[in-house]
Amino acid sequence: MADINIEEAKKNLEKKGFLDLEIDVNLDLFSEIERLKIKKNAIVLAHYYQEPDIQDVADFIGDSLALAQKAQSTNADIIVFAGVHFMAETAKILNPHKKVLLPDLKAGCSLADSAPAGLFKKFKEKYHDHLVITYINCSAEIKALSDIICTSSNAEAIINSLPKDQKIIFAPDKNLGAYLIKKTGRDMVLWNGSCMVHEIFSLEKITKLKMRHPNAKVIAHPECVEAILKEADFIGSTSGLLKYTVQNPATEFIVATESGILHQMQIKSPLKTFIPAPPNNSCACNNCPYMKLNTLEKLYLCMEYEEPEIIMDEKLIQASKKPIERMLEISKKFGL
Ligand code: 13P
Ligand code: SF4
Repeated sequence: MADINIEEAKKNLEKKGFLDLEIDVNLDLFSEIERLKIKKNAIVLAHYYQEPDIQDVADFIGDSLALAQKAQSTNADIIVFAGVHFMAETAKILNPHKKVLLPDLKAGCSLADSAPAGLFKKFKEKYHDHLVITYINCSAEIKALSDIICTSSNAEAIINSLPKDQKIIFAPDKNLGAYLIKKTGRDMVLWNGSCMVHEIFSLEKITKLKMRHPNAKVIAHPECVEAILKEADFIGSTSGLLKYTVQNPATEFIVATESGILHQMQIKSPLKTFIPAPPNNSCACNNCPYMKLNTLEKLYLCMEYEEPEIIMDEKLIQASKKPIERMLEISKKFGL
């Protein structure tokens, strides 16, 4: 995530007195956000890890692939991205002439941060004959160094679409990479990155939960470490997990991903029980500190003042757009 963006946005906000603004406690933020959507022809896109209030007010909720697809097809003039920086940046890359807003510009991603562009460029130079497939959770600079972008819902299809003898670097998530090596049988070179949220689920606590809920299905996101994935009855992207809880006849699920997804699971299956898998600390559930930087108040303020905005260099937009478009084309071909 480019720090300069944060500094620029901060200056703009300070100029407008935004940072000192206190929101009237009597203001109905839900109806204010609806009013601003119409007034500004704005669309609110939210990831499943956002707080429930934000999901409730969003026009569209999805996983990283669905959000990128929606960002590509929207007719709105302003895209308000309730998610993290790399997601809003992807929306901007696909819509260079639209205004893309992120309620809190500090909403980064530990996985994206685990792949600094300079180091990755040097790493890539060691593998001249390899194609670079990169998980969307990375900076635009890393995307520009990649051949194809993928998400957790299309990674397997994208890898399988390549000739069997094609050598591949997979970055930045080593856990997702290891899972994909198993699924596809490809011997990929992995970058050593990971997500701080998915790495800290406690195997011991999940095992105890399974004993207390013997009929519960364990479902996990492929960013989790192998020991957790081994316990899972089903592994999938956030939308894959959500679909599984709707379609599977089980009535109890232990959910090993960020706990924000439980809101949609509960809405779609009100009679089922969803238990967040606990992390190896004193918390009962696992929240992404970056995703949760966005609040309903910040969402309202960013729509009212049209700040903080994602600003990108034109050349970087062009270079990072190609591998994203390649991902979207392949996904379309496979009906994803
Ligand atoms: P998906 O919603 O694409 O599965 O991604 C999960 C995630 O960690 C996003 O940051
Ligand atoms: Fe990044 Fe992990 Fe948070 Fe997703 S959950 S935004 S991968 S830190």
